[in-house]
Amino acid sequence: MMSVSSTLQLKKAILVTIDGPAGAGKTTVSKLLAEQLDYRYLDTGALYRAVAFGIMQSRIYTDDDMAVDIFLKKSRLTLSPATKGFRLVWNDQDITDHLRTPEISMMASAVSAKPAVRNFLIDVQRKIGQDKSLVCEGRDMGTIVFPDADIKFFLDANPEIRALRRYRELTLCTSSITLDDVSKDMLERDRNDRQRAIAPLIPAPDAIIIDASGMGIPAVINHMTTTIVSRFGSTGAKKTHQH
Ligand code: DC
Repeated sequence: MMSVSSTLQLKKAILVTIDGPAGAGKTTVSKLLAEQLDYRYLDTGALYRAVAFGIMQSRIYTDDDMAVDIFLKKSRLTLSPATKGFRLVWNDQDITDHLRTPEISMMASAVSAKPAVRNFLIDVQRKIGQDKSLVCEGRDMGTIVFPDADIKFFLDANPEIRALRRYRELTLCTSSITLDDVSKDMLERDRNDRQRAIAPLIPAPDAIIIDASGMGIPAVINHMTTTIVSRFGSTGAKKTHQH
């Protein structure tokens, strides 16, 4: 079935970054914003999850930095464009649908503190960003990966709201988890992500900070599109046809 929707046309192609902690709504917001701009969408958390998946499958000892480095030099992560973003292929295995478990979340947070892992992923991300027309989300998009991004947002919300959001997402696929577990895991990941030595989770100095605690998703998107249009100008809306 074909549907028609209208997208916002900007005067020039831009690169938008959205950073922030787990559960702040980055993924939903980034996808919707990309849809409105008719841009590609890149979820860089999924890239760290893919590496965590690869390391877990390999059974190498995660604390052994040398082993991780050697393992990554023999590994290949391919991003193949899909309707909504990208599919992730680890060596020859499409692992896109296996990355959203609590175990992978914790492992991704742990391995993302390793220089070998961050170096492995930085070129992949920059290559995708070089053509602009991209909304990318993560922890260090505006600070390290794309310091020259056209516009940077930092999306935050209070920890209770973030834990509840993650809990609801997770209980769609599993019922064996409690809100308390999710909340503890999330606070531990927050601590890891904010305190690590390389590429810690912090807003870029030129990021627009949005506290989404008391805001619905449509209000966040509206705030972002208004800011983008006021900065870059728009040539109006364009009708797009989607299958
Ligand atoms: O966004 P997420 O919850 O899927 O991310 C999983 C982990 O990956 C997160 O705890 C930290 C890490 N990460 C990172 O270090 N840098 C990014 N740009 C994205 C994610």
